[in-house]
Amino acid sequence: MDVFETVNTILAVRAFQSTPISSEQIKRILESGRLTGSGSNQQPWHFIVVDDPPELAKLAELAKSGPYIAQAPVAIVVVVDRTALAVSDGSRAIQSMILTAWSEGIGSNWVGYVGMKGVNELLNIPENLDVLAILPFGYPVKELGQGKKKRKALAEVASHGKYGMHLG
Ligand SMILES: Cc1cc2nc3c(=O)[nH]c(=O)nc-3n(C[C@H](O)[C@H](O)[C@H](O)COP(=O)(O)O)c2cc1C
Repeated sequence: MDVFETVNTILAVRAFQSTPISSEQIKRILESGRLTGSGSNQQPWHFIVVDDPPELAKLAELAKSGPYIAQAPVAIVVVVDRTALAVSDGSRAIQSMILTAWSEGIGSNWVGYVGMKGVNELLNIPENLDVLAILPFGYPVKELGQGKKKRKALAEVASHGKYGMHLG
């Protein structure tokens, strides 16, 4: 898939097949996070691969908005430090990883946000670092409506020349 097609067709995936994701695929997804550019090249992130089903179930329990993590064959927990740009940098790495996965047919979604303290304890993450998101990965249970997104119209979110000027 080219980049636009990946962005155009990706949707949040919240139901996964049990089919495992190969370690090569996980490595590629991690690599796309690692290779992402960050402010002043600080790379304020750490990625933890979780594939033990009981641990995935505990993550699902802790992340109230992502019970479906328990079904995923694997998840990546994205950890960032507390420097000024860390959330932006980490978010960018997350987007790289979920787009790379999707370009190979693997679905994912962003779950949670900074504040998931219980996850620090579960995964031995030092207290001075924050869990930014949990990303479950797996093949989607059903074919999603490719590119059928509920989004604001382009004219509502983009202008030409000055704010609010018609895009043309
Ligand atoms: C910062 C952020 C936090 C999110 N948190 C959650 C979450 O906790 N649980 C969840 O199921 N989806 C979460 N999402 C996914 C959004 O709900 C999803 O991207 C949005 O509804 C668009 O979905 P679509 O691309 O399938 O149209 C999050 C997305 C972002 C960018």
